[in-house]
Amino acid sequence: MAFGSAAMSVAFWWVLLMGAFRAYGGSFYEDFEITWGGDRAKVFNRGSLLSLSLDKVSGSGFQSKKQYLYGRIDMQLRLVAGNSAGTVTAYYLSSEGASHDEIDFEFLGNVSGDPYILHTNVFTQGKGNREQQFYLWFDPTKNFHTYSILWNPQRIIFLVDNYPIREFKNAEEIGVPFPRTQPMRIYSSLWNADDWATRGGLVKTDWSKAPFTAYYRNFNATACTAADCAKSWSSFSGSSSAAELDAFGRRRLRWVQKYFMIYNYCTDLKRFPQGLPPECNRRSKFL
Ligand SMILES: *[C@@H]1O[C@H](CO)[C@@H](O)[C@H](O)[C@H]1NC(C)=O
Ligand SMILES: *[C@@H]1O[C@H](CO)[C@@H](O)[C@H](O)[C@H]1NC(C)=O
Repeated sequence: MAFGSAAMSVAFWWVLLMGAFRAYGGSFYEDFEITWGGDRAKVFNRGSLLSLSLDKVSGSGFQSKKQYLYGRIDMQLRLVAGNSAGTVTAYYLSSEGASHDEIDFEFLGNVSGDPYILHTNVFTQGKGNREQQFYLWFDPTKNFHTYSILWNPQRIIFLVDNYPIREFKNAEEIGVPFPRTQPMRIYSSLWNADDWATRGGLVKTDWSKAPFTAYYRNFNATACTAADCAKSWSSFSGSSSAAELDAFGRRRLRWVQKYFMIYNYCTDLKRFPQGLPPECNRRSKFL
């Protein structure tokens, strides 16, 4: 058997090429597992598309097989269309255990034509209470849009179609815990939350419109997987996932916050009568 044959080298290059394609995101079969809801969660188009659905009996959910510690994670979602009131689509990173860290996107549905709310939160050491909510500048049910989390030792940035909407800076030096050591998995689920989701619970889920379905595609993680993370973060620090916002990014962030932010825990004096959380101090460099 001659190893240098043409057939062998074609096979060799084919394998290399497939490897290169896989580096772009990979497939839902490879990178995720369905965790609940049975066949309400489906992977199709050879692993490139995933859907979750919700009916009166159950919602559904999936999680990543890998854990990540720092990086940039992108996913495209198309949310439940039509009357989605009462439904919540959660897409988040979370570590495990009682003092877990968590970085949340939650999409609160609405009746047809009324706006979704994008609810965000950051948990550190098991404690959240850092909600910010936004309307979106597009209809998130018509097309896929990209929702990203950039997480490095200095900051967490939430992005929507590459527009930064929220930045949570590392403020450990003033005593605010930051997610720094616990690796996180990616989770998503679609469930019924009509006791609070839409107009604070006034609008209930219309089960005659079930099943409700959300779609996912084009997952990318430029991230340190827990296994690689034994090596230090510095091996990533030259890459975009170490980035901070430049002037352009800061302008976009201000634009989103000015025109689309509808709730900010940092300005909710009624909720924090003893004083706002330390990271909310406008004179500090952490806001
Ligand atoms: C739903 O629409 C109403 C009316 O426009 C709005 O007040 C509310 O913020 C919207 N979103 C949710 C999730 O309730
Ligand atoms: C994933 O990465 C590829 C290659 O950089 C890019 O073309 C694609 O748009 C990315 N997907 C998302 C959802 O950002």
